[in-house]
Amino acid sequence: MITEDDRREIEAAAARVPVRRAAAVEALQVIQKRNGWVSDEDLRAAAGLVGMTVTELDGLASFYSMIFRKPVGRHVILFCDSICCWIQGYEKIVDGLCSRLGIRPGETDREGRFTLLPSPCLGACDHAPAMMVDGDLHGDLTPEGIEAILERYK
Ligand code: FES
Repeated sequence: MITEDDRREIEAAAARVPVRRAAAVEALQVIQKRNGWVSDEDLRAAAGLVGMTVTELDGLASFYSMIFRKPVGRHVILFCDSICCWIQGYEKIVDGLCSRLGIRPGETDREGRFTLLPSPCLGACDHAPAMMVDGDLHGDLTPEGIEAILERYK
C-alpha cells in the first residue's frame, strides 16, 4: 500500500514539472525504492496521483526494464539481450548465470538473493557482453568472471 511518505514525495515530484504525468516515472521509482517493486495496488494509487489511467501508467511501467511489476530478489541482474552482446558470446554468460543461480531468465533464486532479467542494450556495446547488477554496469564479461561479480552482492 502506498505510504504517506510516498504520497508526499510523488506530490513534490508532480509540483516540479509542468504537467503531473511528467512525474509518472519518478512516482514509480518512489514506490519501488520503498517496496522493491510496484504492485497493482500501488500502481493504481500512483496513476491517480499523476493524472493517468491505470492502463497508461502500466504501459509506461512495462516499457522501462528498471521498473519491476513483480516481486524481485534483493539484487536484480539485467543481462543485455541485444546485438553486440549476442555477437560477443552473451549465451555463455546467460548460461553461466542460469547454472550458477539455478534459475532461468525471469526467475528469482531460492534464497531471494538474485532475480535474472533480460534487458535491451545497456549502452555498453564497446564492452560487450555486459550486464547490470542493481544499477552497477559490468562489461567484458567472461563465464569465469561471473562468480567474482556475484560475490559482491550479498
Ligand atoms: Fe549489449 Fe549494447 S548490445 S550493451
